[in-house]
Amino acid sequence: MGIEQKKNYVIHYHNQTKHYPNRFASAPGFLEWDTQPNPFRFYRGAEKIGLPFRKDVKEIPYLNIYKNKINPTKDFNLQNLGIFLEYALGLSAWKSIPGATWSLRINPSSGNLHPTEGYLVLPDLPDLKSGIYHYSPYLHSLERRALLTSSLKEKLFEFFQGEGFVVGLSSIYWRESWKYGERAYRYCHLDLGHALACIRMSANLLGWNVTCLNQFSHEDVDEILGLRQMQQIPAEIEEGDILCLVHHSKDFHSFDSFSYEILEEFRKLDFSGVPNQLSGEHVDWEIINIVASNCKKDRTASTPQVSPDYPPMKDYPKNSSSAHIIIKGRRSALAMDGETSITKDQFLSMLDKTLPRSDAIPFDLELCEPKIHLVLFVHRVEGLDQGVYIFVRNPDDFKLLRTKLNPEYSWGQVEEDFPLYQLAKADVRSVAAAISCGQAIAGDSAFSLAMLANFEKSVHVDPTCYPVLYWESGIIGQVLYLEAEAHGVRSTGIGCFFDDPVHEYIGLKDNSFQSMYHFTVGGAVDDVRLQTLRPYHHLK
Ligand SMILES: Cc1cc2nc3c(=O)[nH]c(=O)nc-3n(C[C@H](O)[C@H](O)[C@H](O)COP(=O)(O)O)c2cc1C
Repeated sequence: MGIEQKKNYVIHYHNQTKHYPNRFASAPGFLEWDTQPNPFRFYRGAEKIGLPFRKDVKEIPYLNIYKNKINPTKDFNLQNLGIFLEYALGLSAWKSIPGATWSLRINPSSGNLHPTEGYLVLPDLPDLKSGIYHYSPYLHSLERRALLTSSLKEKLFEFFQGEGFVVGLSSIYWRESWKYGERAYRYCHLDLGHALACIRMSANLLGWNVTCLNQFSHEDVDEILGLRQMQQIPAEIEEGDILCLVHHSKDFHSFDSFSYEILEEFRKLDFSGVPNQLSGEHVDWEIINIVASNCKKDRTASTPQVSPDYPPMKDYPKNSSSAHIIIKGRRSALAMDGETSITKDQFLSMLDKTLPRSDAIPFDLELCEPKIHLVLFVHRVEGLDQGVYIFVRNPDDFKLLRTKLNPEYSWGQVEEDFPLYQLAKADVRSVAAAISCGQAIAGDSAFSLAMLANFEKSVHVDPTCYPVLYWESGIIGQVLYLEAEAHGVRSTGIGCFFDDPVHEYIGLKDNSFQSMYHFTVGGAVDDVRLQTLRPYHHLK
């Protein structure tokens, strides 16, 4: 299919799945609880290798999450893989009320439905055979799907330069479309972005680097993870999204040596394990299959990312909490109190962590050139007027944004050398809630925001960038989740918003920029009925 046709289809999907106050994107009218998809994938017949948990009492300071080359470099072995996965994709708690119990994970997910699956491609490690493994967060175990042949082992050893491994992520759209219908494709990729950030942060705490291998096609990813080589239920199709190399050296740059000859060997591997069926019955959301096939990436050259230059990150908050406690303690606010404020320093420090610096985690993944800006609705920030602000994360878009947004905006820079601009003073609490599908959490917080993507520069040029815009948004969201936690407040990702009313509110008259994701940060109100249980209490 030609690029023009793909582009038209992707834009069609995006428009078709917009929510409006009087017309929501098509979704099931009511929830069929009996068919709710299992959030856990298991491979029947695949050998399971239990992973150790982190026992280390040596705490790593919270701010080390964002700093490269600061944490001691750990070996690649089973113990450290266990810690890596526990703090990247593992369970973080169970919640319970009379009659219902559900698990939460390190990586958040729209509706807590968890469409993202994680895999490892491992060379021989001191205590684990080389192979392709699926990570089971429920069991905190690896499920071996295939052993590597000796010729593949040799070639991979050369590629890894003796050390390193690959993490792969995939999505099962049905898990989200069961509840959200046509808009589910968007949510799956936002979730994937959150998971990518979790992976990058957890690896960094072990002194490991992570680089996205963006040269592979979608089909290559499927082949390497063994998703093509297994019998899948069409309605529960699981599709490979991205492979990342986890390595010790920041200067590792021989990605192209992962030749396509190696791929041929993956294709021939003997994969074992039958994936569990997630639901008894399904509803087919054809539009999702079509947009997914139009967003499939071809093989390309590997393209290192060029990041804008920003002043160094501010060392704030001086939080005495450990990085691991903040990561595991992260929770979505279910409601905001409408009272708690944060200081201007706290606000600026949260935004600062979302700047795409090439040496700062998680934006050193080399995913893509930054395309997301933050339109902020400031409600309760001491030292800042209430109103609408914009945080321009890529200076290349500054001029275009100025031309496209409401011509009456003032564009007053808040701080020198910091790309935050005040656009208009106003009490925007009710507007923020209204455009986030009327969700009070967006108005009762300290601030909320819309993540605005440069659609013209991305999807209009290359439609396969569409999911990547959601990944970038999810990565920013994960930083905000942790930052809120570290500053003693809470946050929540907001996938439900009224797309075009957001654009109209900021004066956008065309589709050049599009809102991809909303977010809110403030003082949370806890639900006292909820009981919290330890994440792995179900395992002996
Ligand atoms: C992409 C995404 C979209 C979300 N959208 C909403 C939303 O519109 N409204 C809401 O209250 N929570 C939303 N959430 C929060 C989820 O419901 C929450 O992450 C999930 O229940 C798991 O809880 P946890 O974040 O505490 O682990 C969203 C989360 C993500 C990652």
